[in-house]
Amino acid sequence: MRDSNPRTVYLKDYTVPEYLIHNVDLSFTLDEKNTRVVSRLTMCRNPASRSSDTSLTLTGENLKLVRVVLNEDSELGDKDYLQTPDSLIIHEVPQQRSFVLTIENTIDPKANTALEGLYLSNGMLCTQCEAEGFRKITYFLDRPDVMATFTTTIVGDKDRFPVLLSNGNRVGGGDLPDNRHWVSWKDPFKKPCYLFALVAGRLECVEDRFTTMSGRDIALQIFVEKHDLDKCDHAMQSLKHAMAWDEQVYGREYDLDLYMIVAVGHFNMGAMENKGLNIFNTKFVLARPDTATDADYENIEGVIGHEYFHNWTGNRITCRDWFQLSLKEGFTVFRDQEFTGDRTSRAVKRIEDVNMLRTRQFAEDAGPLAHPIRPDAYIEINNFYTLTVYEKGAEVVRMLHTLLGAAGFRKGSDLYFERHDGQAVTCDDFVSAMETANGVDLSQFRRWYAQAGTPVVGVAQHFDAAQKTLSLTLSQHCPPTPGQTAKEPLHIPVVTGLINRDGSPALCRLGENEAAAEQVVLELTQAKQAFVFSGLEEEPVVSLLRGFSAPVKPALNRPPEELAFLLSHDPDTFNRWDAGQQLAVQVMSGLIADYRNGAKLAVNPLLIDAYRKVLEQSWDDLSYFSLLMTLPSELYLTEQMRVVDVEAIHHAREAVARALAEQLREPLETLYLRYHRDESGRFDAGAIGRRRIKNTCLSYLAQLDADWARHWSLQQFNTAKNMTDQLAALTVIVNHPHPARQQCLDGFYRQWRHEALVIDKWFAAQAMSPMPGTYERVLGLLGHPAFDIRNPNRVRSLIGAFSQSNPLHFHAADGQGYRFLADRIIELNGLNPQVASRMVGALTSWRRYDENRQNRMKAELERIVSTEVISKDVYELAAKSLA
Ligand code: PHE
Ligand code: ZN
Repeated sequence: MRDSNPRTVYLKDYTVPEYLIHNVDLSFTLDEKNTRVVSRLTMCRNPASRSSDTSLTLTGENLKLVRVVLNEDSELGDKDYLQTPDSLIIHEVPQQRSFVLTIENTIDPKANTALEGLYLSNGMLCTQCEAEGFRKITYFLDRPDVMATFTTTIVGDKDRFPVLLSNGNRVGGGDLPDNRHWVSWKDPFKKPCYLFALVAGRLECVEDRFTTMSGRDIALQIFVEKHDLDKCDHAMQSLKHAMAWDEQVYGREYDLDLYMIVAVGHFNMGAMENKGLNIFNTKFVLARPDTATDADYENIEGVIGHEYFHNWTGNRITCRDWFQLSLKEGFTVFRDQEFTGDRTSRAVKRIEDVNMLRTRQFAEDAGPLAHPIRPDAYIEINNFYTLTVYEKGAEVVRMLHTLLGAAGFRKGSDLYFERHDGQAVTCDDFVSAMETANGVDLSQFRRWYAQAGTPVVGVAQHFDAAQKTLSLTLSQHCPPTPGQTAKEPLHIPVVTGLINRDGSPALCRLGENEAAAEQVVLELTQAKQAFVFSGLEEEPVVSLLRGFSAPVKPALNRPPEELAFLLSHDPDTFNRWDAGQQLAVQVMSGLIADYRNGAKLAVNPLLIDAYRKVLEQSWDDLSYFSLLMTLPSELYLTEQMRVVDVEAIHHAREAVARALAEQLREPLETLYLRYHRDESGRFDAGAIGRRRIKNTCLSYLAQLDADWARHWSLQQFNTAKNMTDQLAALTVIVNHPHPARQQCLDGFYRQWRHEALVIDKWFAAQAMSPMPGTYERVLGLLGHPAFDIRNPNRVRSLIGAFSQSNPLHFHAADGQGYRFLADRIIELNGLNPQVASRMVGALTSWRRYDENRQNRMKAELERIVSTEVISKDVYELAAKSLA
C-alpha cells in the first residue's frame, strides 16, 4: 500500500497545469460491484504552461481501464500509453489545438471501504471527491485549478436505483430495456472535479422553495431513506435561513434553480459542498425532538449553513491548490459561526468556538503536527483538514473583520467576489482584496498564514496618578514549532476596555486626540509595544482581548479577587465568562498540586462565593448562564499543565464540582425544580436555555451521594420526551454509581435500536464515563452486534470518544488504553485510512505525559509505523509525531 518512501508535496513546487479541461461528459452504468464509467474530456494544452513535455499524465487509482480513444476515432493501443498504480500517461497528445479524449473504465463501489470516490452506503451509491477522490472514479486532472463544465448521464436499475442525482439541473431522462432508466444532469458552472457528485438509490425527498432577493424561485430538496422522512424539517428550515442570511450579510444569491441535500449513513466527515448536490453525514441533517439534542439542532443549522455558504466561498471561487484549503474553509467557518451567532446567542456561540479552539486547536499548535493555516508541505492532504486550517483559519478571517470593521470587511469581500468569480485562487488573493478595498497594508498580517504556533502575549501595566495615564505594554513571542524555529512578530488586534473600581466602564482615550470610546482595538505589531490611555481618575481594571479578538495566549497573572471582579462586572460577555474560567483554573491548579502531594483537597471559598453570586443574579440568556456555571473541562486543564497528570486533574475537578454542589445545593435544587418541567418540541432560545441550566444543575446535584438526587435523574430519564433531557439524565447516571445504570442503558438501547444516530450517543456515553470498568466495557462494546468498524460514525462514537474525550481511562498508567487504540488503528488502516488517521491524534501528544506514559505511547506509535502495509495517511501522522 505504501511506497517505502512516501512522497512529500511542497507548496513551493506549485506550477500551473500543463493541460486544461473545458468540458467533461460523464456517463455511468451503475452496478454495486462493477460500475462502468465513460468520460469524454474536451481539453487543450494550457497556454500558460511552460513545460515542453508533449505527453499527458492523468491521475487515477483503483481503476480498471477498458479503453482510451483520442478524437473520437482513434483507439489507443498498449504502446500509446502507460499505466502506473496512480496514473495514466498518454505519450503524445495534440499541442496546437483542442482535442477530445474518451476514457472507459470500471470501478468496484462495494469493495470501496475507504469511502472516497464512488461507494456504497446502506444500499445507496454515493460519491465523495474532496480532496482527491475523483481519481478513484476515472482518470482525470484531479487538481482544483482545473475547472470544467460537467454533464453527467446515469443509467441504473429502476428498483435498486429509482433516484439518480448529479450536479446542476436535470436535462433529460427516460426508460430503458431490462427495467432500467437513465437521467442526465448538466452543471453550467465551471468547477473542479472535487465538487462532482453522484447519488443513486432508494431515496425519498422532502421539498420546499426559496425566492431569492432578485425574485428567482429555487427548488429545495432533501433526500433521505424513507424512515427518516420525519426528521428533515429542521434541516430544511436551516437551509432557508442560511440562504436569506447570505443575501443579507454578504449580498450573495444562489445561482442554480435547484439545491439538493442527500443524507448518508456512511461518511468520513461532516458534510460536503458538491455543487448543487450537497452530501451530508446523517448526523448533520436528521433531527426530531425525541432523537436529537439541542446541540444537534444547533450543529445541523451550522453545518447546513456552512455547506450552503461554500457555494460562493469554495465553489464559485475555489482554491488554486490544496495548500490554500483555509481560503475556503477558514472563511466559510467564519461565515457559519457568524450565522449561528445571529440565529442563536452570540455570546454562547463565541464561547463554544473559543473553547474548542483553546482545547483542541491550541494542542495541535503546541504538538509535533503543528502547521500554519496554509501548510507548506504534506504527504497526504486528507491529514490537513485540521482544526488549524478550519478553526484557526476562521480566527484569522475574524481578525481581518475586527481590524477593518464590518463595513470594511464587506467592501473587501465584495471585491474578492467581483475579482475572482469563476477562478481558483490563493489565500493571498483574499488578503489582497481586503487590502485594496480598504486602502490598507496587510503585509505583516499575512504572516498569520505562514507561521504556526500560538503566540503568547505578555501584559504589563503602569498607572501614573499624577498624569492620569495608564500605560499598557504588550509583548509577543511565539514558541518554536517543527521546522520553524525563529518566529516574526504578528499583527495582533487586541480589543481592550477599561473598568472602574466601582464596576462602571471607564472610557478609553488613546493619546491626546483620539475620541473616547467604550473599547479600542490595540494593534500589536511589534515584539513589544506600549499603549497609553489618558484622562483616568483612578487605576482601572483592564479587560483585555475582548471577544477573544486573536488566537493567542495572554500571559496574565491576575489575583483571584480581580478575576472575581471581572466575572461580576465585565460588560464583554466573553471576558466575563473567561474570568470565571481563569478563576476556576487557578483554584483547580492548586488542588492538582495538593492531590499530587497527598494533601487534603480544600476548595477556596472565593470560588464558591463567585459561583454563588452568579447563581443569585437573574439572567435573560439561560444558555449563557449555564456556561458561567460550567467548570473548565479536563481537556482545558490538560492544556494548562506542563506535565499532564490525568488523575490529579480528574480528582481536582471533581472536588470542586462536589464542593459547589454541597455548598450551593439549595439554589441549584431550586433552579432544577423551577425548570424541570418537560418542554419537548420547543426549540426557541428560551426553552433551550431552560433545558441547559436545568441539566447543568442536575449534573452538579449528582455529585452529592444522595438517594433523592439519584431519583431525580432516574425520573428525568424515564419521563423525558426530548433527547436533550433524556441523554443528560443518562449521562449523569452512567457517570456515577447509580443502581439503575444497567437498566437505563438496556432500556435506552431497546428504545432506540432502530435509530443509528441515537445508538451512536449510547456508545459514546459509555465510552466517556469516568466510572471504573470503562475500559472493559469499551472493549466489550467492540463485540456488540450494533458496532460496525466500517461505519465512521460508530468508530467515532466508541473509539473516538474513548480516546479523545476520556482522558482518565484512555491514559490509564498501565497503557491498556494506548494498546487498545493502536490495535484499532492498525485494523482501520486497511479499511479506511482517513478514519484510521483521525484516531492517531490521541497518541501524538505523548511528549506531554510522564515518562511511563511517554514510553508506552511511543511504543504504540512505533508499532503502528512498523505495520507492514500502512497507508500514507496513518504513516504521515505517526511518523511525524515520533520525529
Ligand atoms: N469540504 C467539506 C467541508 O468543510 C469537508 C470535507 C472534506 C468533506 C473532505 C469530505 C471530505 O464542508
Ligand atoms: Zn467546509
